[in-house]
Amino acid sequence: MAGPRASSGFRRPRFWRRLVPAAALWLLGFSVGVHAAPAYPEETVRRGQYLAVAGDCTGCHTNPRGGAPFAGGYGIVSPLGTIWSSNITPSRAAGIGAYTESQFTQALREGIRADGTHLYPAMPYPAYTGLSDEDVHALFAYFQQAVAPVDTRPPKTRLPFPFNLRVSMVVWNALFLRNTRFEADPSKSAAWNRGAYVVTALEHCGDCHTPRNLLMAEKSGRAFAGGPVKPWYAPNITPDPISGIGGWSHQEIVQYLKTGAVSPKSQAAGGMAEAVSDSLQYLHPEDVDAIVTYLETIPPIRADTDTRAAFDFGGPADFETSVRGVDTGQGSLAGGAALYSGNCASCHQPAGTGTKDQTFPVLFHNTVTGASQADNLISTILHGVDRDADGHRVFMPRFGEESYIQPLTDEQISTISNYVLQTFGNPNVLVSTKDVATARKGH
Ligand code: HEC
Ligand code: HEC
Ligand code: HEC
Repeated sequence: MAGPRASSGFRRPRFWRRLVPAAALWLLGFSVGVHAAPAYPEETVRRGQYLAVAGDCTGCHTNPRGGAPFAGGYGIVSPLGTIWSSNITPSRAAGIGAYTESQFTQALREGIRADGTHLYPAMPYPAYTGLSDEDVHALFAYFQQAVAPVDTRPPKTRLPFPFNLRVSMVVWNALFLRNTRFEADPSKSAAWNRGAYVVTALEHCGDCHTPRNLLMAEKSGRAFAGGPVKPWYAPNITPDPISGIGGWSHQEIVQYLKTGAVSPKSQAAGGMAEAVSDSLQYLHPEDVDAIVTYLETIPPIRADTDTRAAFDFGGPADFETSVRGVDTGQGSLAGGAALYSGNCASCHQPAGTGTKDQTFPVLFHNTVTGASQADNLISTILHGVDRDADGHRVFMPRFGEESYIQPLTDEQISTISNYVLQTFGNPNVLVSTKDVATARKGH
């Protein structure tokens, strides 16, 4: 998840990549007498480009490890196996160059490919189904006209029986796909309606933040109540002040979405870092504002076991006394203090206060250490933080096996986690070595 990321998808394609398909199309046009593809107005194409960013098509359709824009081949790990994203460049051989606009519309809104086979909902068509005709048209214009065709095919998705039968998705769609467009609520403000559209149809926030049922569909009545995005956890973002983000100011949520960090509350890693890096930071300020206006009005959901907001735990550590003269064996609190001292304190400071400018953030009053589940703490240690925003790269090294600093064992990571939770965060949460082993496997 947190490997080196390609920044947003508008890198200049190499000259030959454009030349060869262009020449091929020109020849084809001549030989069978078809007309050149219709030219869409520049304004429509530009709108489509913005929508592709807001819908985060890049995030899934561009392989972050140096893949060409929209050429697919990004593996989405699901409990059923890896689902590979398609090439959606206008290549006729490997992408969607042969799609008509109505076929493209059907893929986006109903999850049906040009050849009639069904897509898995790893492609967020249950959200895109709400997109307006005008927006789908602009997206089509952008992909056909402004994206460079790439002729490489991504790996084939192979799921176990019966999920390998794409026709099984017919049943899933009958149960869970609404297949209706977004409808504005005239009793609400224009900003609220825009926010509702961006959150539910375009940005598909619920894809991660709404818990899923056994069939991997979003649970009704639990919208935005938080759910696992293994090995991470997308927290509750309803306006409940204890379990959700009701205790954040409007401006704090805006800042988090634009930059991925609000001090002292929260930093974005994992899938949220990708959402900020690839999509949210590029949104028009009025769209971000609209998102927050909408989120502030959705039904608040509280977990019975929560008693305090996640950012309301902990305080600075009295570090010297916690390590002096006590057993520093692995698994003990003092052992955790020693490991914290060796691996974390150089950046987050011995007392956990972070640095003055918060480049290295404070670890108390932090939603990751105060959460009622430790997934994001464990995953941050295993996978680090890697995010682009405002032209800056925010980076915390990983301590998993690919670490070039210090690969830590499951036991060391659980020991550090428990020290961090006891000292800076929610002391009711305990991390076992098994929890770390599971997170390391990623699902
Ligand atoms: C969360 C990940 C994700 C996002 C975001 C996403 N896609 Fe997809 N998309 C996929 C996956 C995975 C597949 C292949 C699914 C399968 O094989 O069943 C796919 C398939 C498709 C296809 C079918 C192509 C074919 O013939 O196989 C189209 C068209 C498409 N996506 C367009 C888009 C557009 C346009 C956007 C942005 C508005 C977008 N996708 C955003 C994951 C994503
Ligand atoms: C790909 C999955 C994914 C998508 C899409 C996504 N999020 Fe997140 N979100 C996460 C994860 C994971 C975290 C936890 C990140 C961390 O703490 O490092 C998170 C954290 C957050 C937080 C901070 C919550 C806290 O308690 O610290 C907010 C606010 C948020 N997301 C809002 C949104 C909104 C609004 C959208 C849509 C515009 C969105 N997210 C889309 C996965 C996602
Ligand atoms: C080289 C400096 C560095 C080291 C060493 C380091 N961190 Fe971090 N840490 C960071 C940075 C940078 C961030 C992200 C700041 C931001 O997003 O604005 C971060 C973020 C975090 C977060 C919040 C992540 C989230 O998802 O919200 C936690 C928790 C954390 N670090 C814990 C640790 C622990 C525990 C260790 C030791 C195992 C450690 N860090 C080692 C630099 C470091």
